[in-house]
Amino acid sequence: MTLNTLLRSLPVSFLYCVLTIPIPLYFYLGTVNQLGPDPLRYLEHKYGELGLILLLVTLSISPILKYTKINLVKFRRCIGLVAFYYIISHICVYVFFDIGLSMDILISDLKKRYYIIAGLFAFITLIPLAITSNNFAVRKLNFKTWKKIHSLIYIAIVSSIFHFILMSKTWTGELYFYMAVTVIILILKIRETTIYKKLSTYSKADISK
Ligand code: HEM
Repeated sequence: MTLNTLLRSLPVSFLYCVLTIPIPLYFYLGTVNQLGPDPLRYLEHKYGELGLILLLVTLSISPILKYTKINLVKFRRCIGLVAFYYIISHICVYVFFDIGLSMDILISDLKKRYYIIAGLFAFITLIPLAITSNNFAVRKLNFKTWKKIHSLIYIAIVSSIFHFILMSKTWTGELYFYMAVTVIILILKIRETTIYKKLSTYSKADISK
């Protein structure tokens, strides 16, 4: 049995369960004081980080298929949606527990902590993707429009990385790693664009003259 055959036989619903279980689990651990000295901060960070990781995994599926022939396409929608659930949970922790639903604190945070603006921007760009991640939307929208909406994920990932950079007091190994993965994904994407292909054909033609 090849890896792709094994992956094909794996039900998407199973992956949904495995990936979403940590959301209530971490929350429960937080309520019973099992997340260290600052459970709130831990929960906020964990949800944010897992959301970012899953966004990166979603974006890596096409390059993985192209360069390794491992086919995870069947799981892309599931992973992308679960990333969105983590990000919503991350925002809920901030809104409900961190600032206690206070509009005044939110406004002052938006003025003082620029990473909140970057995070909010990333979240807003993900909303149309989440709304159109169902068969009904795929049928209703034409493929070109649907693809355009879904390319918003590149803006979301860049804004998420900015969010992380702006909030970080020190540049950790993790941050460098996420930045490197994002840069690689973006370079591979740019290489696939028609403009890049045209430009490289022109420059090759110029060299051979
Ligand atoms: C696509 C959207 C977002 C992603 C991927 C994301 C991801 C992250 C990540 C990776 C961290 C750092 C975790 C760590 O240190 O390990 C973080 C921290 C944080 N994020 Fe987000 N985030 C997003 C949106 C938002 C939004 C909309 C808000 C608020 C409205 C927000 C509020 C925060 C806060 C308060 C922190 C912790 C900062 C601190 O420790 O002082 N995030 N986020």
